[in-house]
Amino acid sequence: MSALPLIIDTDTASDDAVALLLAAAGGHARVHAVTTVAGNVPLDLATRNALISLEMAGAADVPVHPGCERPMLRSPSHAQHVHGEDGMGDLGLPAPRSSPGTRHAVEVLLSEAGRFPGRFTLVTLGPLTNLAAALLQDRDLLTRYRHVYCMAGAADARGNVSATAEFNVWADPEAARVVLSAATPGKMTWIGWDASRQDAVMTTGDQLHLERLGTPMATFAHRVNRTVAVWAREVTGLDGYDLPDPLAMAVALRPDLVVEREVARVDIAVGEEARGQMLVDRRRGATAEPNVTLVRRVDTAGFKKMLFDTCARTVQPVRTEEPA
Ligand code: RIB
Ligand code: CA
Repeated sequence: MSALPLIIDTDTASDDAVALLLAAAGGHARVHAVTTVAGNVPLDLATRNALISLEMAGAADVPVHPGCERPMLRSPSHAQHVHGEDGMGDLGLPAPRSSPGTRHAVEVLLSEAGRFPGRFTLVTLGPLTNLAAALLQDRDLLTRYRHVYCMAGAADARGNVSATAEFNVWADPEAARVVLSAATPGKMTWIGWDASRQDAVMTTGDQLHLERLGTPMATFAHRVNRTVAVWAREVTGLDGYDLPDPLAMAVALRPDLVVEREVARVDIAVGEEARGQMLVDRRRGATAEPNVTLVRRVDTAGFKKMLFDTCARTVQPVRTEEPA
């Protein structure tokens, strides 16, 4: 199977970091570029964490281009209380050896798809601010990607950042609306927090298995998620911490892992009461055509096999990660 050419847009916190390992070291893809966006952490930390994660995956040659440092209209909201102040479990990780690229993320998202129409799969792992800004310049941009997979939303309106909203959409709901206004089900797939909390929960046994693999990537993936593990125990009530971004990445790399999907017409609430909630219209003959494919359930065992197989690999990381 040939490696899938990928571009990844990320707000790099601890689960994004694991998604980057899957993409860069899993053997399923060739990462062409990474673009960063403010979200879980401020932009400079998202960029730093992306560089660190790619070095850990032996992919220090992949360029990382910083993008938007705030949502389209709203004040920035971060999730450092979930992922740690640095977004990576506050391990005191050494600074990356590589440096960010000098091009803006939005220009990269536009130019690479324009130069090579239909070649790249785009995976977004954070707020959709960069993609929305690119769409405002080129409304047909999505047609120039092979497919766009977004870790976004909660199709069952059971939220993680509010009663009804998922963080990436809640952080910049206007950007999500811009993206959905240009989307079609054949070009855009959303993997929501509903799928993650059902099919991507790392139980205590899973966490022990990951830790006992003992490779640099497995140790890195286990330790950077130590803060989110506490959050899961104390707040979400799940049977462990979930991995939304790695699940979205796994679906992009192996769409055969999808167990249940649907197409629907989706818009996003922007009023304060329901900020970021997905408005999912499943009515047949609804006034507006479906605009997105929603992944509802994923093969948990297949996802975790990909995760463990990737982390069990030993690559030549540029960095030697000395845990604090
Ligand atoms: O709501 C899940 C999203 O926000 C993921 O991208 C994850 O990084 C979390 O912080
Ligand atoms: Ca993310």
